[in-house]
Amino acid sequence: MFKKKIFIAGHLGMVGSALVRKLKKKNLILKSRKYLDLSNQAQVQKFFKKEKPDEIYMAAAKTGGIYSSTNFPAEFIYQNLIIESNIVHNAFLNGIKKILFLGSSCIYPRLAKQPIAENELLRGPLDYTNEPYSIAKIAGIKLCESYNRQFGKSHGIDYRSVIPTNLYGPGDDYDLKKSHVIPALMRRFHEAKIKKTPKIILWGTGKPKREFLHVDDMAEACIRIMNIKKKKFKNFTKETCSHVNIGSGSEITIIELASLIKNIVGYTGKITFDKKKPDGVPRKLLNNNLIKNFGWTPKIKLENGLLKTYEDFKNLYYKKKI
Ligand SMILES: NC(=O)c1ccc[n+]([C@@H]2O[C@H](COP(=O)([O-])OP(=O)(O)OC[C@H]3O[C@@H](n4cnc5c(N)ncnc54)[C@H](OP(=O)(O)O)[C@@H]3O)[C@@H](O)[C@H]2O)c1
Repeated sequence: MFKKKIFIAGHLGMVGSALVRKLKKKNLILKSRKYLDLSNQAQVQKFFKKEKPDEIYMAAAKTGGIYSSTNFPAEFIYQNLIIESNIVHNAFLNGIKKILFLGSSCIYPRLAKQPIAENELLRGPLDYTNEPYSIAKIAGIKLCESYNRQFGKSHGIDYRSVIPTNLYGPGDDYDLKKSHVIPALMRRFHEAKIKKTPKIILWGTGKPKREFLHVDDMAEACIRIMNIKKKKFKNFTKETCSHVNIGSGSEITIIELASLIKNIVGYTGKITFDKKKPDGVPRKLLNNNLIKNFGWTPKIKLENGLLKTYEDFKNLYYKKKI
């Protein structure tokens, strides 16, 4: 019986490993960077020629939080552009018809109309803190769309993109120089609890609102989008606006999030905010009507997801794996 070959690029990352958990019974092709550096054109060419997967989930990327994107802008734009170009072009050359590219909600303008619908893309200036990363991600979406536009009919290709909101869950990066807000808060509160630090200072005003989604919900959404019939997908999207937002639909301020994690961790000190540090965009909530129309809704509530994530964190922390 034909069993399609599914390549998960970035399978050791947070989203990639969630996809592996969901798709573990399928015929997966998994290669770590040691065996396949996706920024190396020759290696990618050779890999696709040999393996010819039927589907690709593009969860490999140079990622990081505000600290890394501010300090390493060249790496963020270059690495992401080259990984995307290598995968999409070589997939096309080898007749691979299905790709799911993972963008990021930072592609939307800093002051986009909230909740942010897919058609807000390119309607205004981006947030300067991660502009190089956002530009690379926009290029990835447009790369998929352009190949569809030029070769969709002649070669039957169908390359899609999803735009996840902020994700959290198992496999997150707890390195404080690279981490996003949830893993960073979890680690800082945990260490402050152990060291009995009386006060924690957080960046910004704490007033920005953010949306979060558990990575297992995200993986389900990716699989759903990958498997929607072409006709149905086309009916709900446009040729030049084909990306799909994936969000929980609920938001929380950074102050509220910090108190929630503080309570989960059991830290009893004080939280203060350094208002001189940047806040990032004031509000970022994705409009998730389109993905809901495709029959997906998130299952994991933030508090439950955070409780489980803290267990994962402690497991890694005490085994000295982070
Ligand atoms: N996490 C979020 O909150 C979030 C939110 C929105 C969008 N996204 C998007 O979702 C995707 C996955 O995110 P994630 O959080 O899972 O990222 P992640 O945990 O950093 O995982 C990225 C994976 O890509 C691999 N990779 C990077 N460069 C590579 C290269 N040159 N060759 C081979 N492998 C390479 C990394 O391998 P190494 O382990 O060797 O570095 C890692 O396994 C990204 O496109 C990201 O932009 C994530």
